[in-house]
Amino acid sequence: MSFTIVEQCTARLNRSELAVPGSNPKFLERAAASKADVVFLDLEDAVAPDDKEQARKNVIEALNDLDWSGHTISVRINGLDTHYMYRDVVDLIEQAPNKLDLIMIPKVGTASDVYAVDMLVSQVEAAMRCEKRIGFELIIETALGMQNVHSIASASTRNESLHFGVADYAASTKARTTNIGGPNPAYHVLTDPDDDGVREVHWGDMWHYAIARMVVTARANGLRPIDGPFGDFSDPDGYKAQASRAAVLGCEGKWAIHPSQIDLANELFSPSEKEVTQAQRIIEAMEQAKKEGKGAATLDGRLIDIASIKQAEVVVKKAEQIAAK
Ligand code: GLV
Ligand code: MG
Repeated sequence: MSFTIVEQCTARLNRSELAVPGSNPKFLERAAASKADVVFLDLEDAVAPDDKEQARKNVIEALNDLDWSGHTISVRINGLDTHYMYRDVVDLIEQAPNKLDLIMIPKVGTASDVYAVDMLVSQVEAAMRCEKRIGFELIIETALGMQNVHSIASASTRNESLHFGVADYAASTKARTTNIGGPNPAYHVLTDPDDDGVREVHWGDMWHYAIARMVVTARANGLRPIDGPFGDFSDPDGYKAQASRAAVLGCEGKWAIHPSQIDLANELFSPSEKEVTQAQRIIEAMEQAKKEGKGAATLDGRLIDIASIKQAEVVVKKAEQIAAK
């Protein structure tokens, strides 16, 4: 183990993260009644410039009047390059003090972006004598943000999660795709011809590097890595495939840009009963091994060791969080 201890952020269930445009009060009401672990009320890209002020009012009203228990509640503020951002922060905290769990900062490009929002949030929280300290969700969705993801991740003790914003990331890197998330048939390799000259097309995951880089950085800083949007909400199988590969890499959850994606995410990012039982068996087998003075053991014909306990504990802890919800 390194002498550097990685402090873990506040533990929260973050399997599904529902995006709700702040401009639509009906959607806000439905979001409060949804089964999403985290709900973020959007003031940024889902809201047209002419609707920004009204959306901010709607969101403040929703924070004060709706029952958000059972959810972690977040608001996506506007970007630091707009004139909406400071008022988003000031009005949200002044007019709905102690309501927000998290603020989501879009298009973070440098550590200074996080520092600037931290400074502003800290001042307003102090002036309002807030008891609740707001955490940050950071969207990594530009080439600049991906380049600086390491310093961004450690820029504030408020940081809780990194999110892969695939749509803006594609735009920022000038990727030749118009999908929001998901694979692209043009990103493929051809196998060598077989004896009959036949070549197979193997699709790749064009987002692999970006999301893997973000996952490693998040974990190295004790943060939750979260996969962003999948635009085609009429394709549950496509959504599940994307979510599944994100889960395998270490992501804790995925955005739902439509209510129909909430259950898919909750199921996909929950360990199955079989996985939990197996994890408990590993922990028991290792406890027995420890009593016998051994550092490793055999379970079902496979080697397990101290690293296996840590993996198993992650699964059991997640199951306990879900059961407690
Ligand atoms: C999310 O904000 C994205 O751009 O994908
Ligand atoms: Mg975006």
